[in-house]
Amino acid sequence: MNKPKRYTITTALPYTNGPIHIGHLAGVYVPADIYARYLRLTGNDVAFIGGSDEHGVPITIKAKNEGVSPQDIVDKYHAIIKKSFEDFGITYDNYSRTSAPIHHETASEFFKTLDEKDEFMEETTEQLYDEEANQFLADRFVIGTCPKCGNEEAYGDQCENCGTSLNATDLINPKSAITGNVPTLKKTKHWFLPLDKHEAFLKEWILEGHKKDWKPNVYGQCKSWIDDGLRPRAVTRDLDWGIPVPAEGGEGKVLYVWFDAPIGYISSTKEWAAREGKNWEPYWKDEDTKLVHFIGKDNIVFHCIIFPAMLKAEGSYILPDNVPANEFLNLEGNKLSTSKNWAVWLHEYLEDFPGQQDVLRYALNANAPETKDNDFTWKDFQARNNNELVAIFGNFINRVVVLTNKYYNGIVPEPSDFETVDEETLAAVKAYPDVIASSIERYRFREAGQELMNLARLGNKYLADAEPWKVIKEDEARTKTIMYVALQIASALATLSEPFLPFTSEKLKRILCHSELDSESQWNDIKTNEVLLPANHQIGKAELLFSKIEDKTIQTQLDKLEASKKANEAANKTVEPQKDTITFEDFTKLDMRVGTILEAEKMPKTKKLLKLKVDTGIDTRTIVSGIAESFSAEEIIGKRVTVLVNLAPRALRGVESQGMILMTETPEGKLVFVNPDTSTALSTGDTEVGNGLQIS
Ligand code: MF3
Ligand code: ZN
Repeated sequence: MNKPKRYTITTALPYTNGPIHIGHLAGVYVPADIYARYLRLTGNDVAFIGGSDEHGVPITIKAKNEGVSPQDIVDKYHAIIKKSFEDFGITYDNYSRTSAPIHHETASEFFKTLDEKDEFMEETTEQLYDEEANQFLADRFVIGTCPKCGNEEAYGDQCENCGTSLNATDLINPKSAITGNVPTLKKTKHWFLPLDKHEAFLKEWILEGHKKDWKPNVYGQCKSWIDDGLRPRAVTRDLDWGIPVPAEGGEGKVLYVWFDAPIGYISSTKEWAAREGKNWEPYWKDEDTKLVHFIGKDNIVFHCIIFPAMLKAEGSYILPDNVPANEFLNLEGNKLSTSKNWAVWLHEYLEDFPGQQDVLRYALNANAPETKDNDFTWKDFQARNNNELVAIFGNFINRVVVLTNKYYNGIVPEPSDFETVDEETLAAVKAYPDVIASSIERYRFREAGQELMNLARLGNKYLADAEPWKVIKEDEARTKTIMYVALQIASALATLSEPFLPFTSEKLKRILCHSELDSESQWNDIKTNEVLLPANHQIGKAELLFSKIEDKTIQTQLDKLEASKKANEAANKTVEPQKDTITFEDFTKLDMRVGTILEAEKMPKTKKLLKLKVDTGIDTRTIVSGIAESFSAEEIIGKRVTVLVNLAPRALRGVESQGMILMTETPEGKLVFVNPDTSTALSTGDTEVGNGLQIS
């Protein structure tokens, strides 16, 4: 697009069912804040929009578990999350919440408009129902096997293993998350957004229009969605927590959380505009506005396909120019997990590292999962701090400020003739605003952060080579020039570091008494204006910007994680209780035979499944067995096994499985065959047939 007149920058609205951790910060909020701050520093009109996502099933589940109301839950976490954002210097123009009246109104109106324009299909279909809980089961209220990847813990709306977005009725072996019961089917009416109707437009807009400028991970996910064929998506639910469906027949139903939440960006913008006496509409409706959504990869389809289809259907809105989604951040080699407490919580970080927000912002940005999942380690955090922030940035600033105070009582000296090295250095400084800007505008925030550090490196090298502490003894005029040049670098760092290290930038500006020099266009001034800190300007005293982080501090954090791991292991060690007693008649129904595996091959595109040909003594048949993670096809060919032959056949990934290979688990959790011959399983007595027999 041409140079935008204004920017609307949105960040995924976090669910208020828990606090936020480093994964959220690294994936969404730090990059978005870098972007917003940079745009403001370069004189742009910016609406930086956030808020809490307060609907959805997990919130009601949590409320139920804790015996409080959903509103209690969202009030608690909205406050905690909002504070974390403030503490970490995320400069929202507005941070709203989807339980706010303005949001209910906005989302409701949006729905009504689409309804009036006939953009929905209303259909009565059979949905999963929990008879005991008296409730329809949608989204996270139902757990089952993902039809795409076989993950047994997929949710009714999405499989977190393969990222596929699902309908509850797609799940294989669904179970209620409330009672554990197998759901029944019950008829109910819902409103559907016919994504298929928007397919042609989405193809053109994304596949042709954004092939070049969207990140490959984002583009790839969109393409695979579109290639799979788009289907109508229900945008209403039979639940009682959410925004009531504003239509005839909508009683007792609410808008699907993923329908209302992105509209939250619009409501939050409205709230901001009303407060500031501005008009919100250009920020969402003017073609000269650049709309950018910052999100994590699990949100891609909602922001690139579904929300744009909603906006398009409504008709008066612009579409996102880009959706720079990040991949996931891991912690010390493992997936971040709220339930396993495998996380660095932002509020806890601040208790352990008070005032050190910038260190975390810097380390997270330096390791941001921009193109692939990435790992946060405390060692790396320490190294980024000690080797970069302290040794390069902090060291340079400290030397400049200390020497200026020592030699000139803090007054910027008058330079005399520049030598080549001075001119080259000043010219290099001038190039940095554009170098950093170019990385930021391409959403390469890691690279941008490294360029900032390169400027500090340049300063360090300049001082180390020029050695003013030696020159002062023989050439006062030359020393003044050197210190003058070094002070210009320090000043450029004060401005250019703001998006990345906002607290440090502020402190540095205070030390340099910079504020009286600040201007609307300070970022661009560096490119044109050689004199950033003029001669005779008085600066303040030195203060440490960063301090070294010791090994023992890092060890404390590692110990904390180790404790989480231990607690989890203990919690998971609960042995399955014995199942209900069965009668001897029940048992005799099982027809078990000794069979031989004749052939075995891995089922394509599955992790767990092997397709076997088994000679059962009666016949040769195909059995699909979920043991591929424990055994290779090669090692089990020829093996004698126990086969349950009268199990009703069932289709697994399109292959009919005609029986079951009996397996059991050792107390250590190792999967073993119920072996008809010698060996481990039965004869050593360390396992029992019938305990943990699993469908294999
Ligand atoms: N709450 C969602 C999540 O945490 C994100 C919602 S983004 C919005 O994954 F667009 F819907 F607001
Ligand atoms: Zn899956």
